[in-house]
Amino acid sequence: MKKIKIHNKNFKLFISHEKILSAVEKIADSLNEKLKGKQPLFICILNGSFMFAADLFKRMESVEAEISFVKLASYKGDKTTGEVKQLIGLSQNIEGRTVVVLEDIVDSGITIENIQEQLRQLNPREVIIATLLLKPDALIKKVQLDYVGMEIPNDFIVGYGLDYDGQGRNLADIFSIINE
Ligand code: IMP
Ligand code: MG
Repeated sequence: MKKIKIHNKNFKLFISHEKILSAVEKIADSLNEKLKGKQPLFICILNGSFMFAADLFKRMESVEAEISFVKLASYKGDKTTGEVKQLIGLSQNIEGRTVVVLEDIVDSGITIENIQEQLRQLNPREVIIATLLLKPDALIKKVQLDYVGMEIPNDFIVGYGLDYDGQGRNLADIFSIINE
């Protein structure tokens, strides 16, 4: 079993890059079907979602798609702070548009609820939420997720864009914390 150390914590291999990509492909297939004939705007939630967004977006072959980025932060170290800080906002006009929000992971649901509420006020035609990962046992908000790549246990993870205090985003696989 492949193990790594980031800062003071140990992690073990949890989801291989291959498995991640097959989850991304499944979401991409469904979205290509669902978005045919539309001109959606994808919104990637930075920082964590940049790898998921890149892998998904290049698979949007049957859609005239655009992408934009917002930057939100709610995690400090390996825990949620319970509040969302907006670090970069949305510059596009989304009125009447189909918007697809791309999130790396839904944990408490606070981030997704926050962005959904912000987008609603800008009168889009529809808002579709796609998340690579979901921790169902950590959810404290009632959020409607349209596409979920994989459900995972409520353990802290890093890799494929996800970090522990800034480190680990560059890992191609996803690693799960070893509770010692
Ligand atoms: P939420 O607002 O609690 O749903 O958390 C969402 C954000 O927290 C995600 O977009 C991630 O950036 C971050 N996050 C949640 N769980 C983890 C984790 O296990 N590792 C690293 N970041 C996480
Ligand atoms: Mg995120």
